[in-house]
Amino acid sequence: MRETTLAPSQLIYPLFICEGRRQRVPIKSMPGVFRLSRDLAVKEAKAAAKLGIPAVALFPALPDRVKDRVATESLNPRGLLPTTVNAIKQAVPELAVVTDVAMDPYSSDGHDGYVEKGRILNDRSVEILCGMALCQAEAGADMVAPSDMMDGRVGAIRRVLDGSGFTEVGILSYAAKYCSAFYGPFRDALDSAPRSGDKKTYQMDPANRREALREVRLDVAEGADIVMVKPALPYLDVIADVRREVAVPVAAYQVSGEYAMIMAAAKAGWLDEKAAMLETLTAIRRAGADMILTYFARRAAEVLGG
Ligand code: PBG
Repeated sequence: MRETTLAPSQLIYPLFICEGRRQRVPIKSMPGVFRLSRDLAVKEAKAAAKLGIPAVALFPALPDRVKDRVATESLNPRGLLPTTVNAIKQAVPELAVVTDVAMDPYSSDGHDGYVEKGRILNDRSVEILCGMALCQAEAGADMVAPSDMMDGRVGAIRRVLDGSGFTEVGILSYAAKYCSAFYGPFRDALDSAPRSGDKKTYQMDPANRREALREVRLDVAEGADIVMVKPALPYLDVIADVRREVAVPVAAYQVSGEYAMIMAAAKAGWLDEKAAMLETLTAIRRAGADMILTYFARRAAEVLGG
């Protein structure tokens, strides 16, 4: 009688990576989640693949000294992210590696785009993002995932990738990404909070539902292979709308704050962690998400079986 299924094959596992060896640095606001150095990220990726999780999404945590206004480090082929992509693809070739395209981990301003005089310059940002996406494709990424919300970046990235022979690298677009309070723990994890201002000029107003469809249609027309709604649980209506609107697969991101809420309540003994995990993931699937990015991926896969 069950209408909705939940399986490890529907999960994408986000991993925070950092420099060093044998580093497993806890993130205070995300119990059970760590910044992992390359060697341990490879181990975690192997374990995920073994459990039937088809993909990981990588987010680099970089020291302030490599950050600048134009995200120069994001173009460094010997940087933390490209070398980790490479190490994971060598060790677990069957596991898809998704890389994040946005300036915030590399930017001294902590914004997803390029800042000049307190404003985000859209088109200058898109140029930088294209270079970043190319660097990630060259490192072996299977999919690039622009999370920046600049206009026109999906089409621009597609052209740059195709022009360099990366016709088979896909684009998972954060198409309907809201300006959400639920990203707080993620910004702790990467130390990437905006140094001034907020992200309201490029991320969406949580009050807007129809605008999500406009954003999604634009990204599909520009060549997005998968479109994502983010966050997930507070936006189930949007996931359902998007599912009805487009033919491409729909992803949803159960973000850091959603994870933190469940973990905090579970730690206090107020919620059953496993039950809340499975119920929220099932609800996100029921709303129409084909796949879910979730920090619970490994634990959920362990519970669900391969
Ligand atoms: C930034 C980015 C964010 C997340 C993924 N990519 C945070 C932000 O937009 O400030 C959030 C993910 C999460 O909260 O788990 N490019």
